[in-house]
Amino acid sequence: MIRTNYDTVAAGYADLLADHLAGNAADRAVLGLFAELAGTGGTVADLGCGPGRIATYLYGLGLTDLLAVDLSPAMIAEARRRYPGPRYEVGSIDRLDGIADGGLAAAMAWYSIIHTPRELVPALLTEFRRVVRPGGPLLLAFQSADPGLPDHRHIESAYGHDGLALDAYRWDAGVVTGLLADAGFTVRITTVREPEGLEPQRQVYLIAV
Ligand SMILES: C[S@@+](CC[C@H](N)C(=O)[O-])C[C@H]1O[C@@H](n2cnc3c(N)ncnc32)[C@H](O)[C@@H]1O
Repeated sequence: MIRTNYDTVAAGYADLLADHLAGNAADRAVLGLFAELAGTGGTVADLGCGPGRIATYLYGLGLTDLLAVDLSPAMIAEARRRYPGPRYEVGSIDRLDGIADGGLAAAMAWYSIIHTPRELVPALLTEFRRVVRPGGPLLLAFQSADPGLPDHRHIESAYGHDGLALDAYRWDAGVVTGLLADAGFTVRITTVREPEGLEPQRQVYLIAV
C-alpha cells in the first residue's frame, strides 16, 4: 500500500517539495549537524529517500558515499532523474538485506518511519541498529504527537492526487526516544521545531548513536 500510494504521487511530491529545504533553515541546520557527525568515513544511508531531495543535499555537503533507499520504484526513478550522485535503490527499510551488520557509518530516516504501523516500529529501529556501526549517528525526523491532535492520520488526498489510502502516525519524542533505547541507541540531540505555514503540529528531529 505504501509503495503504490507513493508511486502515484511521486512526480507531484517531487515537484511540490523541490524547494522546501531551501526555505527551511531549521531542516538544513539539522541535516548539517547530522552530516558533520556522520563524517566521510563510510557509507551513509538515506532510508526512505523519496525523490532524493534530502539525499542530494547531504551529497552536496560532502557525503558522497551515499546510499538512498525507497520502497517506491517511481520515487527512485524521480530521484535518479532529478538528483544524480547518490546511489539509489528500491528496497524496504525494514529489511535491509543488502547491508551487512555495521555496514553503515550513519543513517537517517527523514519522515519515512511515519507510515510504519506503531507495533512494527520497534523491529524497524532494531534493523537500523543492525546496519549502523557502533557509534554511528542515526537521524529520525517525524511529526510530533502534539496535544489535541489525533496521533494518526488517514490520508486520501495529497500532492495533487485523490483516491489515496495512506496511514501516517504522529509520534511523541519521548516515546521514540524510549523505543530507540530499547533498540540499542542513545538519543544525543533532540530538536523540536514549532509549526510553520499550514503545519498543524511541531516537527521532531532526533539524533541518536
Ligand atoms: C513522506 S515521504 C519522505 C521522503 C523523503 N525522505 C523526503 O523527505 O522527501 C515517505 C517516504 O518513505 C518511503 N517509505 C515508507 N515506508 C517505507 C519502507 N518500509 N521502506 C522503504 N521506504 C519507505 C515512502 O515510499 C516515501 O517515499
